[in-house]
Amino acid sequence: MGHAIRFETTGGPEVLTYQHVSLPPPLPQEVQVRHHAIGVNFIDIYHRTGLYPVPLPSGLGLEAAGVIEACGSQVSELQPGDRVSYATGPLGAYSQVQNVPASRVVQLPSHMPFDIVAASLLKGMTAEYLLRRTFHVKPGDTILFHAAAGGVGQIACQWAKALGATVIGTVGDPAKRDLALKHGCDHVIVSRDNNMVEIVRQLTDGRGVPVVFDSIGKDTFITSLDCLSPFGTLVSFGNASGPVPPVDLGLLAQKGSLFVTRPTLMTYTATPEMLQASANAFFDIVGSGKVKINQPQAFALDEAAEAHRALESRKTTGSLILKPD
Ligand SMILES: NC(=O)c1ccc[n+]([C@@H]2O[C@H](COP(=O)([O-])OP(=O)(O)OC[C@H]3O[C@@H](n4cnc5c(N)ncnc54)[C@H](OP(=O)(O)O)[C@@H]3O)[C@@H](O)[C@H]2O)c1
Repeated sequence: MGHAIRFETTGGPEVLTYQHVSLPPPLPQEVQVRHHAIGVNFIDIYHRTGLYPVPLPSGLGLEAAGVIEACGSQVSELQPGDRVSYATGPLGAYSQVQNVPASRVVQLPSHMPFDIVAASLLKGMTAEYLLRRTFHVKPGDTILFHAAAGGVGQIACQWAKALGATVIGTVGDPAKRDLALKHGCDHVIVSRDNNMVEIVRQLTDGRGVPVVFDSIGKDTFITSLDCLSPFGTLVSFGNASGPVPPVDLGLLAQKGSLFVTRPTLMTYTATPEMLQASANAFFDIVGSGKVKINQPQAFALDEAAEAHRALESRKTTGSLILKPD
């Protein structure tokens, strides 16, 4: 028996309810994890609203950190008492305890406290694949990264800086500017007040950037294309403002033989080996001090709806977590 956030219909934050739930023992290849901290990610909002449909009723959340309480009969590489985290589901991380396939769990280095891991593993592995595998960011590249003061943004901009890039970040509000500058950005554009394309062109001697990382979606898609140099790549990896509408591919020819990709963490961590390699790269860069993870804004588990309201309203910076007790 434990508590969990569940929802029976899609909709606003009010559809989230805090319920008593019972949990069976772990299946042979699962571990049962007692959560100490739970990650809140924008994808949880897409699941709640139905943008990414899930079978209902359902639990919510893909990411948590905690301690293994029990192991299924076929699990040999993990044991009760291990400090672990997971960041690719199964859905239902907004709970006190959850059964997770052992193959989707990573063990935690001692330098990573639970709150910091829950605040950063999903976002950090996202930064890892975006900057190292979707587009290989090299020393001397100038990149544009939207929502630079957000959860993914703060981690990715620091990491891009560590890779030797010049980082142009965007923020929605001038109050977030200094934070973005402290987390890897060399230049910050306040999107609501400025002509982004003009500023990016000024900062790149008219050329534009070779890559834009865009998690805002509908509102920024065309602007992002216009910030690219010929043969540039738009990495469209989220929909915070809504999904990008259907695109006339001819536009990519007109704007300079551009590339567009729409990646997801799930593909880039599809096998246990890919998952472990991505997590290790993230733990290593945090361990090196080149990427710093701030203490997240914490809400109680039964305040999940409040956490969603804060994230959706663009009022947050950095990461949010839920605390199960
Ligand atoms: N594809 C993947 O593998 C993957 C994995 C992880 C995350 N993501 C995506 O990465 C993005 C960031 O995730 P996160 O959890 O770290 O969230 P976050 O960046 O902390 O929050 C989203 C930010 O988007 C900006 N935004 C712009 N227009 C918005 C709008 N209309 N409504 C809400 N926000 C708006 C806001 O920053 P400003 O006000 O500063 O503009 C807001 O703070 C999300 O789009 C998420 O889906 C994708």
